[in-house]
Amino acid sequence: MPDVFQPLYRVHDLDRSQRGATGLDLSTLAKLDRGILDSALFADKAIYRTEVQEIFGSSWLFLGHEDQVQNPGDWVRSRMGNQSIIVVRNADGELHGFINTCRHAGYRLCPDDRGSATRFQCELHGWTYDLDGRFVAMAGYGQAFSSILNKDDWGLIALAGLAQYRGLLFGIFNPPVESFEDFVAETRPTLDVLAALAEDVDLTSVVYKWNVHTNWKVAAEHLGRDDLLLFPNVSFSQDSRILHVWHPINHLSTEVWAYVLAADATEQEKLDLIARDEQLRHAIASVYGAIPKTRAIASDRQRAFYETWTVRMAASTENDQ
Ligand code: FES
Repeated sequence: MPDVFQPLYRVHDLDRSQRGATGLDLSTLAKLDRGILDSALFADKAIYRTEVQEIFGSSWLFLGHEDQVQNPGDWVRSRMGNQSIIVVRNADGELHGFINTCRHAGYRLCPDDRGSATRFQCELHGWTYDLDGRFVAMAGYGQAFSSILNKDDWGLIALAGLAQYRGLLFGIFNPPVESFEDFVAETRPTLDVLAALAEDVDLTSVVYKWNVHTNWKVAAEHLGRDDLLLFPNVSFSQDSRILHVWHPINHLSTEVWAYVLAADATEQEKLDLIARDEQLRHAIASVYGAIPKTRAIASDRQRAFYETWTVRMAASTENDQ
């Protein structure tokens, strides 16, 4: 996928005063009572690192649909934040979610989008894992490592939680701040709409992806036609009929995954929907070509987004103290 948009950011790093003694001074970054956002929110590495850890690390994040892994051994690759994830159905029919990284030296375990397997074997040196993520074998294990490595310690890194709602799959990296039941209760109307539309759609075959040289929050708050939001990174519009999931790659780069939820549409109609989405991509990439030092909050949706963002970030800075 070519990266056609070049970054034109005026990067505003945090002032020394905004870092504070123990962490980020959120009151100077998001002045919600006055409708003002500091542009460091969209370009600062320290803020980004905190978001990845505290927001993406402890939120229920959309992974896909259980129909993508119907049978034992079926697996599908997805993404949570800046991590590649594999979801697999084990021999007993249970679902697991793992970070798609070999424990030996961090090589990507599954390079493809989906498949069916009895085991996962890393291409680099052959470390092999079963469908429950256990490390089971490697060439030369007995001779080279048996005295220093305990196999039980070297399984794949599992998500802290994997849950489904009417077939929609969600994962979470760390023990949740919010239970899945609470998350579902808060977002049930949104999820019911999504679940109904996703029922007849193969989410693997219709996903398409694009990169924008933009902080993830720009995409999150600026998908103007979208009207449903699952904080932090999912939006959907019954007008566009496209489900957007945006993944932070770094503080100035975002990968957007788009799922066309239009099972009844013809191929040409789907192409038309995607073409309209291309216009959105251009809009996101060009609106923020240059950022002034401060920005105004311009909609209720934007305000709600930053209210939630502030609460989640505040929890993290309180924990640091
Ligand atoms: S990195 Fe996977 S076996 Fe070495």
